Amino acid sequence: MERNINIPKEIVRSIAGATRVIALTGAGVSAESGVPTFRGEDGLWRNYRAEDLATPEAFRRDPKLVWEWYDWRRTLLAPLAPNAGHFALAEMESRFDDFTLITQNVDGLHRMAGSANLVEMHGNIWYTRCLREGDVRENRDVPLAPLPPLCTRCGGMVRPHIVWFGESLDPDILDRALFSTRQAQVFIVAGTSAMVQPAASLAGMAKQNGAIVIEVNVEPTPISGMVDASLQGSSGSVLPELLRIIDV
Ligand code: OAD
Repeated sequence: MERNINIPKEIVRSIAGATRVIALTGAGVSAESGVPTFRGEDGLWRNYRAEDLATPEAFRRDPKLVWEWYDWRRTLLAPLAPNAGHFALAEMESRFDDFTLITQNVDGLHRMAGSANLVEMHGNIWYTRCLREGDVRENRDVPLAPLPPLCTRCGGMVRPHIVWFGESLDPDILDRALFSTRQAQVFIVAGTSAMVQPAASLAGMAKQNGAIVIEVNVEPTPISGMVDASLQGSSGSVLPELLRIIDV
C-alpha cells in the first residue's frame, strides 16, 4: 500500500511486533473536532490568563468567574464529536495486548470515541468535585444552572474536576501513567506542545527505558529532536495512517 507518512522500515517492524504500546495526547488531537488548543495562534492562553481562571487561588478569589469560564468551554464542547485521530487511537486498543492512552485533554472525546484503557491526567471537564467531601460526579448540564453549581449530595460548593496550575496530579493517576510509560515498547506522542510537566517528560522517560518514540504534530516541538520518528501532519490524518501501517 502507498504510504504518505514516512516511517523507517525497522520502526514499522517494531510497531508491528510490539505488545505494550502507549499513546500520549494533547489538545492538538482535539483541534480537528473544533476544540481550541492552549498555545499557538488561537490558543486559549493567548486570550485568557491562566492565573485568573485555572489556579486554586483564582477559584478561591472568584469561584463564579472561574465557573463561568468552564461553563463557556463546556457549551463550546457539548456539540463536538471525536475526529478520525480519536477513532484511530480507540481502534489501536484492540491491536495490541496492552495499549494505554494517556491524555492531557479534559474534553472527554477519547472516551466518546471508544477508548477504554484511558488515563485522564488533567481530569475531565464533565465532572465536578465537592470541596467538602471530595465526591466526584458527572455533570453534563449545559449551560450550568445554578452557576456556580452545587454538590447534589451535600449542597456545598463544587469545583471543576481538573488539575489546575500549581496543583499536583492525583497520585494514582500519575502512578498509572508512569507505570505504563516504563513498560512501553512503543510510545506515540500526538498533538502536544510538550510544555507542561509531568506529561512533557513521559516521552523521554519511555525512550530511556528503550521504547521507540513516534511523534505526531503539525509542527516541531521541544521533544522532536529526541524522538525516533517525527511525523509532521494533523493527527486526524496521520493517526489513521499509522493504524493502517500497523494493520498491514
Ligand atoms: P498546547 O496547546 O500547548 O499544544 C497543542 C499542540 O498541538 C501544539 O504542539 C500544536 O502544534 C499541536 N497541534 C495543533 N493542531 C494539531 C493537529 N490537528 N494535529 C496534530 N497536532 C496539532 O496543548 P497541550 O500540549 O495539550 O493543562 O497542553 C498541555 C496542557 O497545558 C493542557 O492539558 C492544559 C494546558 O494548560 C491544563 O488545563 C491542566
